[in-house]
Amino acid sequence: MLFDERPKVSRGDLYDRDEELNDILKNINGPMVVVTGIRRIGKTSVINVTLNEADIPYVLIDCRSLRDNYGRSDLYRLISNALSSSLDKLIDVLRRIRGISIMGNAVEIRWRGREQVSLAELFDRLNERRVVVVFDEAQRLRGPLSSEVLNALAHAYDFDRNVTFILSGSEVGLLYEFMGVEDPNSPLFGRYFHEVRIGRFTRDESVDFLRRGFKELGVEVSTDVIETIADVFDGIPGWLVYAANAYIRGVRDLSMIREATIREVLNELERLIRAKASYSTVNARRTALVLRCIASGGNTWSKVVKCVEDSEGKTVSPTSLNNVIKTLERLSIIENYEFLDPMYREAAMRLGIPNY
Ligand SMILES: Nc1ncnc2c1ncn2[C@@H]1O[C@H](COP(=O)(O)OP(=O)(O)OP(=O)(O)O)[C@@H](O)[C@H]1O
Ligand SMILES: [Mg+2]
Repeated sequence: MLFDERPKVSRGDLYDRDEELNDILKNINGPMVVVTGIRRIGKTSVINVTLNEADIPYVLIDCRSLRDNYGRSDLYRLISNALSSSLDKLIDVLRRIRGISIMGNAVEIRWRGREQVSLAELFDRLNERRVVVVFDEAQRLRGPLSSEVLNALAHAYDFDRNVTFILSGSEVGLLYEFMGVEDPNSPLFGRYFHEVRIGRFTRDESVDFLRRGFKELGVEVSTDVIETIADVFDGIPGWLVYAANAYIRGVRDLSMIREATIREVLNELERLIRAKASYSTVNARRTALVLRCIASGGNTWSKVVKCVEDSEGKTVSPTSLNNVIKTLERLSIIENYEFLDPMYREAAMRLGIPNY
């Protein structure tokens, strides 16, 4: 079903994306594929469908829930959940690994003590089979264990020819920073990977997607409604699906649907500002200001400087401001002083400036 709100699993439920799917499938025998794209664009869906079609055992590690400064127990919990989900395909390999025990349907991994299993060891053992290891939202792996994870990835890259990694990320700059693509000291530096970028639907594709989705459910909608949804949500499949479902549930006022999405994004931005404030309130306040300034038309460096200075009533250090802008770029919220998702722009306009 095209409008199913969960990440898709089979090609029939996924609109278009044939090119991206084939691109990943063509490279699935290489060491590493990186799938990038902004939030709600369909990365997880494209990866799921690929795995479903590739017919290779896989381990899908969803890093989204990792907190900042996550610890070894957090990481191994994710991995053991992922291994548990793939247990039927990998049970014979996992049974033979010292430090791994299988309790019913669950895999337990020892991460401390004499029988501990290191990540590199785990990859080496999985290598006894052909396997794809996916780290979804891999930028969340940044933190105190970064280098341990990267060293294990680099080791497997070099020695484990049967293991293919797929890394995905919606915060694209942060993902590359984690991988150290530009850092000669990073273990992965200089190693080739194939990048697949997932982009937005064109307006025609959005309209066609909505038409087919409504038709599939036997819901009559006017061209006007379809075109309005396509115009508001700018080809981002996650929003199109969200809006279509709200409409089907009976919300006929499209501006109410739009409001709901803006509120959701506003919560997200407020969480970001709060997280920044736990390190630096000055930086948090400035981040909120920069978001507001860009949302209200600050589309050049000098306009943003002026806007922030007018609001703070003082001169602002270019380095500090540049850092704030660069961080928003690494999070894939803005690029060239534009929001990548129009809903973020709307939300940013309403962002309160905290009074620390
Ligand atoms: N090509 C598509 N056809 C149909 N539905 C899609 C398509 N791409 C994405 N969706 C829908 O959009 C929503 C977001 O998709 P998905 O979770 O795969 O995106 P994502 O990029 O992984 O998002 P996030 O960054 O939030 O993890 C889901 O409801 C999914 O079903
Ligand atoms: Mg996802």
